[in-house]
Amino acid sequence: MRCTTLTSLAALFTAAASTKIVDIQGVAFQSALAGQWVHNVTGVVTAKDRYGFWVSGEPSDDTRASNGLRVYSPTVAKKVEAGDLVSLSGRVSEFRQASRPNDLYLTELEIPYNLDVLSTGNVVKPVVLSRDGDRIPPSTTLSAHDTGPDGWLSVPNNVTLLESANATLYPNKYGLDFWESLEGMLVTIPSPVAANFPDMFGSVWVYGDWDIPGRNERGGLTITFVDETPDAHPGTILVGKPLDGTRLPKSVVGMALSDITGVVTYQFGYYSVLPLTAPTVLSVPSVEVTPATFSSGTQPCEITIGDYNVENMSPRSHHIPRIAEHIVKYLNSPDIVFLQEIQDDSGPRNDGVVTANKTLTALVRAITKEQAGHPHASPDSRLSTYSFVDIPPENNMDGGKAGGNIRVAYLWRPDRVTLLPGYKGNATRATEVVKDGKGTLSLSLNPGRIDPMSIAWEDTRKPLAAAWQTITGERFFTVNVHLSSKRDSSSQHGDARPPVNGHAERRTHQVNITAAFVESILSKDPLASVILAGDMNDFIQTRSVFRALDPLLHDINEVSNIDPVERYTYVYEQHTQEIDHMFVSDAVAARGTEVEHVHVNTWAGSANERASDHDPSVAKIWVCDKPREVGQGLVVQIPGGGY
Ligand SMILES: *[C@@H]1O[C@H](CO)[C@@H](O)[C@H](O)[C@H]1NC(C)=O
Ligand SMILES: *[C@@H]1O[C@H](CO)[C@@H](O)[C@H](O)[C@H]1NC(C)=O
Ligand SMILES: *[C@@H]1O[C@H](CO)[C@@H](O)[C@H](O)[C@H]1NC(C)=O
Ligand SMILES: *[C@@H]1O[C@H](CO)[C@@H](O)[C@H](O)[C@H]1NC(C)=O
Ligand SMILES: *[C@@H]1O[C@H](CO)[C@@H](O)[C@H](O)[C@H]1NC(C)=O
Ligand SMILES: *[C@@H]1O[C@H](CO)[C@@H](O)[C@H](O)[C@H]1NC(C)=O
Repeated sequence: MRCTTLTSLAALFTAAASTKIVDIQGVAFQSALAGQWVHNVTGVVTAKDRYGFWVSGEPSDDTRASNGLRVYSPTVAKKVEAGDLVSLSGRVSEFRQASRPNDLYLTELEIPYNLDVLSTGNVVKPVVLSRDGDRIPPSTTLSAHDTGPDGWLSVPNNVTLLESANATLYPNKYGLDFWESLEGMLVTIPSPVAANFPDMFGSVWVYGDWDIPGRNERGGLTITFVDETPDAHPGTILVGKPLDGTRLPKSVVGMALSDITGVVTYQFGYYSVLPLTAPTVLSVPSVEVTPATFSSGTQPCEITIGDYNVENMSPRSHHIPRIAEHIVKYLNSPDIVFLQEIQDDSGPRNDGVVTANKTLTALVRAITKEQAGHPHASPDSRLSTYSFVDIPPENNMDGGKAGGNIRVAYLWRPDRVTLLPGYKGNATRATEVVKDGKGTLSLSLNPGRIDPMSIAWEDTRKPLAAAWQTITGERFFTVNVHLSSKRDSSSQHGDARPPVNGHAERRTHQVNITAAFVESILSKDPLASVILAGDMNDFIQTRSVFRALDPLLHDINEVSNIDPVERYTYVYEQHTQEIDHMFVSDAVAARGTEVEHVHVNTWAGSANERASDHDPSVAKIWVCDKPREVGQGLVVQIPGGGY
């Protein structure tokens, strides 16, 4: 079989010596032969799709140089089958879609001609990616250009464009270099495990049988520090649509799959493996979630605090009963619940309504109903109906879905705590810490928003500060936040290095303002009990964002000695991650804390079965100066450094 359509074009070029695929791919991100015509490129067809096929040539001793190559041509693809040994000419190109300028380039052979099928039925041995196989990816870093103290999470972002730098590859050190060195090759990943639900295209993040920092008990990969640097999980790879038209299983975190064999490519912003056929499901972790092991205390000073981003909740939301069930059955009806993403009473309708009484009433009713159905959820059974408070934003001034007017809110159990009496703030007035003649602290507006007119909160949710007292009159302060989202982030496998962490500077500014408010409490009373919690839309490993809190508060995970790999409330791309945080002041930390992240959503049977995209957390703290007596519950731990 011979393709003759382009022989005249071929005649324009002097017949060069045959070119090896390893020389086309080379040892850098970009081919040294890009733009040039090459001849008699020889290799065995490993796979094909509608637009082209992949060939595997003679390997090199240099593992940096891939011996696989994508050939782009829908017409020529029809003329070959997997197993054909072919020879062909064409032009080397570095391709990325014009509409995706942050993608990396894929090395291709385009305008192929002079196709010769030299033999058929050849077998290509895939490169086995496993600890007992041929190669394994590096474990922590994506790119040499992710420089800065926070590694891939460092600021400033987008300092270097990877393709412009066109570095030679270090596949043993950097994940992007590793996958680039396999670009176009046939690989097998034995016994892969899924790290997430499928993405919007049905693709699945997997990792194979090698050591991976951050692997949690569930089988997800939590972002942690490795030698003081945030781990980027560079060895995880996106598995795209199978080439034979079969469908990938609908993955969940920790799902074990059968071996995957496919070609390595780059598409839609990510290195991906396109499997020859879909893997089967070997095992699925149980959807059963253990409720928090503690509940509201019998001591007035012992307070439980829940934190839950309830994802665009409106009075008509179908997920209200599920969220109520989580609060009652899994968080054991905390004394105070910090909520984020409460929509107004008309939900997403963009009609000027900003109050959320109906939304919060609907949730409280559902909780009451759930409590009636679960009399044992709280062993002390002193449950009373939750009270709630929020401050409606100005219409469409706080970001989120237009018309939804999401805001933060508090629920609390009046049998356990009450707001200190005072005047509630409004959307635009800032609350301040005030000290009375007796030296006790309260808030000028309770609850009140923190510096709501600051440019830092433009088009985003404002934090809600509140001053509380226990039933014995001991005071403490809370701040409920929902910082700007990571919208506009760039791909972790993209050209911009370090990747763009969308709106990190805004979150930094927002944390700074929040920290200044916390400081205004602690400067008046260094032993004040302060709890800051909420959806902060960034990882603790993005240290630059949280820096202003360092001298003021402690991450409750540290104080409670939670295993770093189990600190997660969210799963995105290849990482389980913590973007919802709780911080406590010195006084609270010194008395000891407990915290549990309850994975009611990241452990769901499918993405659609989740009630929210976030998991809730629940903590137990002691808010009184009076020390806890021996046997009164919490073990006092000396908090370490850090937050
Ligand atoms: C390339 O292969 C063709 C046959 O397809 C052959 O005629 C030609 O001599 C080869 N050229 C080189 C430079 O090897
Ligand atoms: C990329 O680097 C390789 C190896 O150093 C070099 O041969 C090639 O010409 C470079 N490409 C570009 C576009 O700079
Ligand atoms: C990164 O910066 C370059 C300019 O150096 C710009 O063209 C590009 O759009 C930026 N990429 C992203 C993802 O923001
Ligand atoms: C909302 O509830 C608060 C207190 O629960 C009440 O003061 C306020 O009047 C209510 N607003 C509306 C519009 O019902
Ligand atoms: C908040 O209260 C202040 C003082 O009463 C008032 O001037 C302002 O207009 C109020 N803001 C809103 C959004 O109602
Ligand atoms: C935030 O605070 C940190 C440390 O306190 C400081 O280095 C940084 O410049 C501040 N950034 C902004 C945007 O306020």
